[in-house]
Amino acid sequence: MEANRIYNFNPGPSMLPLEVLKEAQAEFLNFQNTGMSILEISHRAPAYDAVHNQAKADILELMGLGDDYEVLFIQGGASMQFDMVAMNFATPEQRGNYVLSGSFASKACKEAEILDRGYVAASSKDTNFKHIPTQEEIKLSDDAAYLHVCYNNTIYGTEYHYIPETGNVPLIADMSSDILSRPLDFSKFSLIYAGVQKNLGPAGVALVVARRSMLEKSPENLPTMLRYDTYYKKNSLYNTPPAFGIYMVGKTAKWIKAQGGLEVMAERNKKKAALVYAAIDSSNGFYAGHADKDSRSFMNVTFRLPNEELEKKFVAEALEQQLGGVKGHRSVGGMRASIYNAMPYEGCEKLADFMEKFRKANA
Ligand SMILES: Cc1ncc(COP(=O)(O)O)c(C=O)c1O
Repeated sequence: MEANRIYNFNPGPSMLPLEVLKEAQAEFLNFQNTGMSILEISHRAPAYDAVHNQAKADILELMGLGDDYEVLFIQGGASMQFDMVAMNFATPEQRGNYVLSGSFASKACKEAEILDRGYVAASSKDTNFKHIPTQEEIKLSDDAAYLHVCYNNTIYGTEYHYIPETGNVPLIADMSSDILSRPLDFSKFSLIYAGVQKNLGPAGVALVVARRSMLEKSPENLPTMLRYDTYYKKNSLYNTPPAFGIYMVGKTAKWIKAQGGLEVMAERNKKKAALVYAAIDSSNGFYAGHADKDSRSFMNVTFRLPNEELEKKFVAEALEQQLGGVKGHRSVGGMRASIYNAMPYEGCEKLADFMEKFRKANA
């Protein structure tokens, strides 16, 4: 770790791999001998084209997906995907089905409801989203256009550990906070989207990976920029794309490949999460985890302390130890350690060690 950098546990935007940042820094003023930075070159220039297409190819390769899938880069964040999914695939006659497993899952559903095309297929709201609804809890409507799930719930610290079975109904997932963090059978999903500002790059790009058959034709009455087929037909270059963000996503994908791909990411992420969960579980109740154990996230670890005074003290003293961004979201309170791909093992070791010392000093 560089002396002047902290272990950054922020939920997003969040820590990026140091190697990626340094590489971008090194070529910032003169990208590939163009005499310009990547921020300054045309999105129609061959040098940019190569960046764009390589990023797409690397993402598909990491996910183990073939030619029947396509990668899109869209602006508007994951939040605009809430709208695009509902507008492109649901109608009042064929409703979008939603599993409410947290705040963003609920926001996605709300967008469909504004358009009178949403349906709640399962919810864990009554237990403050402590668990991921099980397969048995999910009840699809007869007219389901798709099932939408939020695969990792950033605020509550829960994550799916199974892929919902939906028969012929397309499965759509918001993977904003666990994209490319572990291998999955991605071919079970018809469309996956993610705001990239947690695991992959800077804010400003939503990554969409979808079956081509989902993207070929959007409903006639949709405006141009809200249609998936606009991005699909023009290789996400219908208008000026968020080029710098895509460039950074490409670099991070290349970094993941160089580390050994998603298997290696998953192995590391599990070990990192295990350190922090062990500090919670061995604390004799001083730290109380929010998520049910079988729904725990490998990406966001949420826990409370005995009172708010101690929580404030924890945040302040953690920062003195170069452990930043550990304050939780107000809807859960307490702490949240976001430990995405770029968080090194040592960061989690240091946090677990600090938790232990803090407990001994304050219990
Ligand atoms: C799971 C999830 N979905 C959606 C969003 C919203 O993303 P954006 O800010 O890119 O719209 C977030 C942001 O934190 C998130 O964690």
